[in-house]
Amino acid sequence: MNHFQYINGELHAEDIPLARIAEAVGTPFYCYSTATLERHYKVFAEAFADQQATICYALKANANLGVIRTFADLGSGADVVSEGELRKALAGGIPADKIVFSGVGKTRSELAYALDCGIMQLNVESLPELEALSEIAVSKGVTADIAIRINPDVDARTHEKISTGKSENKFGINASQAPAAFARAAELPGVNPVSVAVHIGSQLTDLEPFRIAFERVAALVGELRGLGHDIKRVDLGGGLGIPYREEKIPLPIDYAAVVKSAVGNLGCRLMFEPGRMLVGNAGILVSRVIYVKQGGTRRFVIVDAAMNDLMRPAMYDAWHEIKPLKQPENGVAMEPADVVGPACESSDTFARQRPLPPVRDGDLMAIFTAGAYGAVMASTYNARLLAPEVLVRGPEWSVVRPRPSYDEMLRDESLASWQGGG
Ligand code: LLP
Repeated sequence: MNHFQYINGELHAEDIPLARIAEAVGTPFYCYSTATLERHYKVFAEAFADQQATICYALKANANLGVIRTFADLGSGADVVSEGELRKALAGGIPADKIVFSGVGKTRSELAYALDCGIMQLNVESLPELEALSEIAVSKGVTADIAIRINPDVDARTHEKISTGKSENKFGINASQAPAAFARAAELPGVNPVSVAVHIGSQLTDLEPFRIAFERVAALVGELRGLGHDIKRVDLGGGLGIPYREEKIPLPIDYAAVVKSAVGNLGCRLMFEPGRMLVGNAGILVSRVIYVKQGGTRRFVIVDAAMNDLMRPAMYDAWHEIKPLKQPENGVAMEPADVVGPACESSDTFARQRPLPPVRDGDLMAIFTAGAYGAVMASTYNARLLAPEVLVRGPEWSVVRPRPSYDEMLRDESLASWQGGG
């Protein structure tokens, strides 16, 4: 469900015709719908209304301040994986005591900063990290609540590049080593092990891997309590998939049923780190057709967005819906085309042999389901400017990240001292 719909033949974001935004800010640009963000958050939160639950929005999916503030206003916490994300979460209005810090390679200075902020929980992923955190916490005279992230060795049955819960993945501490890790944490000063964390991958379209992982967490909590650890919460990560292509995806309520049956009776606070599920369908990337070119064997629709703006098709062979901003006439003949960007490599392809209505130079197109892992993964490859981001709410819209200028791009770099630089 999203709020990008045709109204009188024109694609709108809520009440705003997207063509109007394109006129004002130029293309390409990202556009996010507040109503969709809010709806997804509420559907997820309501599925756990009968539990003690904390939803920590995973900023990595979309770290725009306007998006963060939208969730902060709904009472969300945040899951962050770097000092930059932690700073953005705080700047977006998320209280420190609702922030968890995940990641396999938090640096010592990031750990120190997180302790200074007094965040809710640090999810520790290795013994060396545990030792470092303890040392830093002691030097600051504080004690940090921590989770130990376990690697449950579960196949998430998702794209290989976004699977994280198999033993060959770099994430977490092997479940069989968890009791030893908790024992070590309990004897170290400055850390208070209160939680078990797990995250097995992203874009899961099947609940079974979640069920297996969460049952392993429940068994481990029982074992750890038997060993005298006071486990107060479990952090179940993110990962629930979304429909990119009208796939059948379990609803949050179905996911919640699996969660509750596996860990609902532990008496633990439940923590979640959803990313994609909250923002994916709440964003689109709007682009203008530069040329339509007939190649030797295919037709190419060359648009002004490129792989640097939206990496997912190039990186994961991801399928994204593409529609023109002007609604095609009913029954119009569709013709296959490759939708490509201007970047100088063949992986700069948004869609291959996609049936499209007639398209001409200058037409505006929307690439759907671009709210998650879109703008955050953008780069300036080919010295392209980062696409701006726009947030819509009903009849209002606002640029929440402007397009930089070429002057700014050039100012970011300098010559070496021996080349006459400063
Ligand atoms: N928690 C942890 C520890 C994570 O590593 C992730 C995602 C999440 C939560 C949020 O997962 P979500 O609910 O969004 O599935 N760039 C890839 C996705 C990478 C996901 C990384 N970790 C893509 O575009 O598909």
